[in-house]
Amino acid sequence: MRGTRPAAFGIPLLLLAVTALSSATPSRAEERKAPDDLPLGVSKVLWELSVPPGAEPTADKVALGEKLFKDKRLSINDTVACATCHDPDRGFVDHKSLSEGVGGKAKPTQRNSPTVLNAMFNATQFWDGRAPSLEEQAKLPILNPIEMGQKSPDDVVAKVRAIPEYAQSFQRLFGRDLTYDDLVAAIAAFERTQYAGDAPFDHYLHGDSKAIDASAQRGWVLFNGKGRCNECHAFNTVTPLFSDQKFHNIGIAAHKTDFIGLARRATEIVRSGDMKQIDELAIQSDLSELGRFLVTKQANDIGAFKTPNLRDIAVTGPYMHDGSMQTLWDVMDHYNKGGVPNPNLDGGMQRLGLTEPEIDDMVAFLATLTSARFAAFGKKEMARQRGLKNVRPERDTAVAMGLKGNLGDLAPDPTLRNPATIGVLLIPQNFLPPRGAKDGQRTEKR
Ligand code: HEC
Ligand code: HEC
Repeated sequence: MRGTRPAAFGIPLLLLAVTALSSATPSRAEERKAPDDLPLGVSKVLWELSVPPGAEPTADKVALGEKLFKDKRLSINDTVACATCHDPDRGFVDHKSLSEGVGGKAKPTQRNSPTVLNAMFNATQFWDGRAPSLEEQAKLPILNPIEMGQKSPDDVVAKVRAIPEYAQSFQRLFGRDLTYDDLVAAIAAFERTQYAGDAPFDHYLHGDSKAIDASAQRGWVLFNGKGRCNECHAFNTVTPLFSDQKFHNIGIAAHKTDFIGLARRATEIVRSGDMKQIDELAIQSDLSELGRFLVTKQANDIGAFKTPNLRDIAVTGPYMHDGSMQTLWDVMDHYNKGGVPNPNLDGGMQRLGLTEPEIDDMVAFLATLTSARFAAFGKKEMARQRGLKNVRPERDTAVAMGLKGNLGDLAPDPTLRNPATIGVLLIPQNFLPPRGAKDGQRTEKR
């Protein structure tokens, strides 16, 4: 998965560009020019490639979409809106480890709610990429039994059509009675105006050398160097997202999961291509931890999740697909020790040997990615996280510094006798295939 970043970016973008050109009339192409007032750090080129022809957000549709996004009447019992789990005033997340919908506390979703900020630029939606567009994404939570709980698209349409203000708005803007497709198109139009940008880091890159402090500047260097974060959280001016848009197993689910048993069960259960079924497995069952595997059924996608965008990261905790990390210090501790060993751990995960001041610098850098609109909230969040800084469940300094274990990386074990063991993961027994798979049973020799 490593070393292919430029090509992998180029192909989807090129395809998108070709599709856009071939299906757009000249006047359409004219209309599709990115708005002139995009915030600093939001790419015009990417906007034009990401917004499908015909889906340009117009002021009327955006206003309608915003109303729908915040309207609890979209749920079965008038208690849950998109905004319940994606609160626009709080970074478009719910700040819970696992989201709760109509299922309440008793039946939380198996995953953490990602932000809607910049979701318009995602190559795929959801932690496992199972939805190809914002529109297809929005159709699913409304119908998921524990998120918004509606039984069918027809039920949703009937309910919303019966609300006079919506019936009229859809007639006026779409020229016909409300349909499920038009409903999600309006919501997507709103989402396509929710940018992450205009952060201190953007001002720094655009020449204001004082926009971020010395510690954050050192953090940016570490992010691209010793920390190796740019391996997956890729950044450039055309795609300034801090994501390669690909899927990696960085060992989050490995804390608690027997991947092999789960994968065997999932392969039996999953019928190919039924998005609603995959949605329910991902949101409601323990198979959720298989990540991208649920979508592709490829063994090398077991436990792999989408590289998330890092913009506004200070205001979108807790972190990871299962919300298992409370602070950015926890995240740094996880990476510093090279993740959690499991048979599918991404090759890009290696221990880093970062010192405590270096970790502080990297967190300081991450905090400069907060959009101006969330500046005050970001300060508050970072102060709260700093208060938790001495509680460090993920920290393993001996492994991080190469004094224990041998992951075959920048800081090999000084007591290592046999170089043939470099790069051989210390895989806990319960991860190994049960019988007959001899090559999975290498033991470490010193
Ligand atoms: C009960 C809480 C809940 C509700 C209600 C909800 N979401 Fe989500 N949302 C989530 C969770 C959890 C995920 C991640 C699920 C996954 O990856 O499997 C998610 C994922 C997303 C994503 C993908 C973002 C990304 O980076 O991949 C978007 C966009 C989104 N939701 C928009 C919406 C919209 C629009 C609505 C209303 C129609 C909505 N959500 C309703 C919890 C919720
Ligand atoms: C091998 C690819 C890879 C590398 C290298 C990597 N990341 Fe990640 N990062 C991911 C993936 C994939 C996830 C989501 C994993 C999950 O939830 O299972 C993630 C999640 C995160 C999150 C949580 C985001 C959220 O919204 O919950 C943060 C913060 C983060 N990474 C920062 C970093 C930093 C800082 C570095 C460098 C020290 C780094 N990452 C290196 C792939 C990578």
